[in-house]
Amino acid sequence: MKETGIVKILVSNLQKTYRNRQGEHVHALAGMDLQVREGEFMCLLGPSGCGKSTLLHIMAGFVRPSRGEVLIDGKPVAGPDPRYLTLFQNYGLFPWRSVLGNVEYGLEVQGVPRRERRSRAMEYVSMVGLDRFVHNHPHELSGGMQQRVALARALAVDPDILFMDEPLGALDAITRFRLQEEISRIWRDKGKTIVFVTHDIEEAVYLADRIAVMTPHPGRIKSIVPVPMGRPRDRTHPDFLRVRDQVYSELRLKPENVLDYCI
Ligand SMILES: Nc1ncnc2c1ncn2[C@@H]1O[C@H](COP(=O)(O)OP(=O)(O)OP(=O)(O)O)[C@@H](O)[C@H]1O
Ligand SMILES: [Mg+2]
Repeated sequence: MKETGIVKILVSNLQKTYRNRQGEHVHALAGMDLQVREGEFMCLLGPSGCGKSTLLHIMAGFVRPSRGEVLIDGKPVAGPDPRYLTLFQNYGLFPWRSVLGNVEYGLEVQGVPRRERRSRAMEYVSMVGLDRFVHNHPHELSGGMQQRVALARALAVDPDILFMDEPLGALDAITRFRLQEEISRIWRDKGKTIVFVTHDIEEAVYLADRIAVMTPHPGRIKSIVPVPMGRPRDRTHPDFLRVRDQVYSELRLKPENVLDYCI
């Protein structure tokens, strides 16, 4: 584990109120505090509408809070910053570029010389297991492969922090498992700080150092659940199941009201 104990992201008394089309106020975040440590894998977990994306987008500088603030490395977040990369669910690949061209994109923007760009991009394409597809275009790839390209592109620019908003949400269970394993391995190798939004309890237990469990109406952090397990994790291990059950009970989920969580 690369987590250093140094606070990387500090969220204090964060509030966000939106106004919907009917002019009503929607309290998306009702005053929350959170600390993410350097090198930590933090999952934001909760049902639909509890404010996960709002919190992530405020941290990443895309949305301004109504009250409170976010500090990264002790400085207030004023807007998006290339050192903090955000990976969205819809991949955001350029259809006219090959796999290699997509992964090279961020390096071009950074002005990395062509040769170095190419070799660095190749390194990340290999890391996500797509060597054979390096000259293919996104439409020739499956959803899971496209998500791998997006991950390689994000990692290639060597960001300090990766913000990920349900990046595996659209994938089938088996592809999801494999990508979870890859993300966990890459996180161990590269030592990034990752904030990862999910509504999938087992995904959070598999990936996170700590899980911020959120509840809706208005969005709050109900509790922080640590996952004191090494990696790679065994999804059938009694410790894994114990943490999973703890998260279930934090969300007050019983078999008969599990559907409430899914809506
Ligand atoms: N631009 C907006 N204008 C008005 N209301 C919004 C806006 N964005 C989000 N909301 C509202 O804020 C609340 C939190 O939304 P948010 O997208 O952060 O939730 P979420 O936890 O990411 O949900 P999901 O799991 O479905 O993605 C919801 O009630 C949503 O309707
Ligand atoms: Mg969301």
